[in-house]
Amino acid sequence: MRFERKRIDLKDGRTCTLRPAEAEDSEAMIECLRTVSSETPFLLRNADEVTFTVEAEEQFLKAESMHPRELMMIAEVDGEISGNCAVLSVGDLRRTYHRCRFAIALKKAFWGLGIASAMMDYAFFLAEEMGYEQMELEVVDGNDRAKSLYERFGFQETGKNHRSLKYDDGSYRDEYRMVKIFSAREGI
Ligand SMILES: CC(C)(COP(=O)(O)OP(=O)(O)OC[C@H]1O[C@@H](n2cnc3c(N)ncnc32)[C@H](O)[C@@H]1OP(=O)(O)O)[C@@H](O)C(=O)NCCC(=O)NCCS
Repeated sequence: MRFERKRIDLKDGRTCTLRPAEAEDSEAMIECLRTVSSETPFLLRNADEVTFTVEAEEQFLKAESMHPRELMMIAEVDGEISGNCAVLSVGDLRRTYHRCRFAIALKKAFWGLGIASAMMDYAFFLAEEMGYEQMELEVVDGNDRAKSLYERFGFQETGKNHRSLKYDDGSYRDEYRMVKIFSAREGI
């Protein structure tokens, strides 16, 4: 889905633009995911598993910008992609039509500036505009920064996936499932 650009003031005095990802962002988006994947153990991929081609990423971003019920948002600071977030549909079946999923990742250099909070605010607004009633996500046990942020924004823990991730050193981590309810439109 396409949406309006939004400018926000960061805690360090810079400004950040929240905007839809375009096909032209493909290379920088891949680089961003590779960077964040190398900086945190809390994403699904190891950095060496970020193997998308620029062409495949272009196709993906084009599809996202045309999708009526999904969006990919970029946070740009001084011309650099600092991170992105996505609102993704759970599916088109009527029984799950009210649910969307959320994912967010920022390069470490841009943590703590209020970017995630601003992106979440805007993503919630857009998700409701797209007609979703609730947003869901998983957060890895130990990712206190993200989990406390989600709780502050109204997500509630609904369960745990045990041993959800297995790391190269053989250790496991659980993932919490969380949901934020926008509205409950009761049917008959
Ligand atoms: C999680 C993430 C998106 C947060 O981004 P961010 O831009 O730093 O978030 P914000 O600056 O908007 O807010 C972070 C808040 O958490 C607080 N915080 C920082 N470390 C914390 C900790 N260990 N425990 C609790 N709160 C913490 C900060 O003080 C800040 O609160 P404030 O706004 O009151 O100062 C970012 O760290 C990130 O991309 N991490 C790597 C990828 C990832 O984990 N993604 C989420 C996967 S579920």
